[in-house]
Amino acid sequence: MQTAAENYRNHILVGLALSLALILALGVYGFNEQVRLAQAAEEFNRERVARGQSIYNQQCVACHGAQGEGGVGPALNNRNVLKNTLDSVFFAVIRSGVPGTQMPAWSVDFGGPLTDEDVRDVVALLRSWEPTAPEVKPAVFTPDPGRGAMLFAGTCAVCHGENGAGGENAPRLNDPLRLQALPDDWYRAVIRNGRPAKGMPTWGTVLSPEQIEDLVSLIAAWRKGVEVKPSFAVSDLLERAIFSLQNNDQQSAALHIERALSVATGPGAQALRSSQAQLAAQETSAALNALQELRDQWPIGDPASGALLYTANCSACHGIQGEGGIGLALNPSAFVQGQTNAQLLTFLQQGRPGTAMAGFSDRLSEAQLADVIAFLRLWQP
Ligand code: HEC
Ligand code: HEC
Ligand code: HEC
Repeated sequence: MQTAAENYRNHILVGLALSLALILALGVYGFNEQVRLAQAAEEFNRERVARGQSIYNQQCVACHGAQGEGGVGPALNNRNVLKNTLDSVFFAVIRSGVPGTQMPAWSVDFGGPLTDEDVRDVVALLRSWEPTAPEVKPAVFTPDPGRGAMLFAGTCAVCHGENGAGGENAPRLNDPLRLQALPDDWYRAVIRNGRPAKGMPTWGTVLSPEQIEDLVSLIAAWRKGVEVKPSFAVSDLLERAIFSLQNNDQQSAALHIERALSVATGPGAQALRSSQAQLAAQETSAALNALQELRDQWPIGDPASGALLYTANCSACHGIQGEGGIGLALNPSAFVQGQTNAQLLTFLQQGRPGTAMAGFSDRLSEAQLADVIAFLRLWQP
């Protein structure tokens, strides 16, 4: 016969077993629920990324590249950027854009086309790149005296003279003794800060730090006694000289012609010298006409030197007499007749991609190609 106490214990055991079963069942349910929620979240995110991709394709590809590799705008598919940028920061930057740069504001709040939901979709897309994003090294800047010389000619020479030779209102900069005495840091500081009260402008607010480094490297080249010629394109200088004359600015026209003469050679240089003489003799309209004609004919070469260059560089494919071979006939050539000298120059520099006609920009200078062009003209009726 069972005692009351035993009976009570049985109840407790049954109760315990039932509770255990319930806890187990709840646990399994809970676990399944977690999996279900995670799957739903993943599905939701996949849809976000897909929507983000189609917005990206329409709005962002042009500047940030099809794979986010960058272009006008920086690379976004970039491990460092993705690792160091919170979603909330992407969200804010995309909404408001970066004022003063080409990055537009995208939010409807700022007159853009995207809602906050759209922006979240795009951020999800950017984030989805993170696991496979490549490490993009920022481009290393190397100061270049050639770029510095172009900048100097356009910005500093008005006061300091061509190549820093000194001007009426500003000191000579290419004086070897002074260059030896003063280090790069000093020049960097003077250029950046200027001496505004004494007529030397503050360039740090006008030029980029990179441009100032280019100028410092130009000055460093002068210190070593190296002459750095700015690589002017004669066609640009002709354009500027014509503009100056049309605006009755003979002095600037003379300066541009002077600069063009520092790079032009052969018959081109002769033609420039004769318009220089016209300008000096106050024959402004004659000079203007001559310069315009020169611009239309540029580059002007020497056919005799062109004949030698043709034999060495072109005859193997186009034939000694221009009769054609691997390359098309050039004697005569409807193509050559239909092109201006400037167009032929670009053609010969770049070649015709996908054919045996490779560009010559790395083998022949502009002046040499001008000679070849002058020679090709002799074969045309
Ligand atoms: C017209 C060109 C242009 C378009 C279109 C454009 N961007 Fe940009 N974006 C830029 C530029 C330029 C910058 C760099 C701004 C700066 O100098 O800080 C930039 C910066 C960014 C940055 C900050 C990157 C960083 O490293 O801090 C993000 C994020 C970005 N863009 C996302 C987008 C998205 C998303 C879209 C499309 C909805 C888009 N951009 C469309 C030009 C563009
Ligand atoms: C508007 C005329 C003007 C322009 C443009 C100008 N400078 Fe100057 N610069 C001066 C004058 C004037 C001084 C002398 C100031 C003084 O008396 O201390 C000077 C001084 C300097 C000096 C110090 C020279 C020395 O030996 O003490 C440097 C270096 C210099 N300029 C570099 C530049 C560069 C580089 C540029 C172009 C980005 C430039 N300057 C453009 C007028 C000009
Ligand atoms: C390796 C062979 C090769 C050399 C070297 C070469 N060319 Fe060509 N060139 C070609 C071929 C092939 C074509 C035709 C390309 C095509 O299929 O459209 C061509 C086309 C041209 C044309 C355009 C003709 C037309 O009717 O479309 C010109 C002009 C020309 N070459 C000039 C030159 C000159 C000038 C040189 C030397 C400075 C030169 N080429 C050197 C192979 C060559």
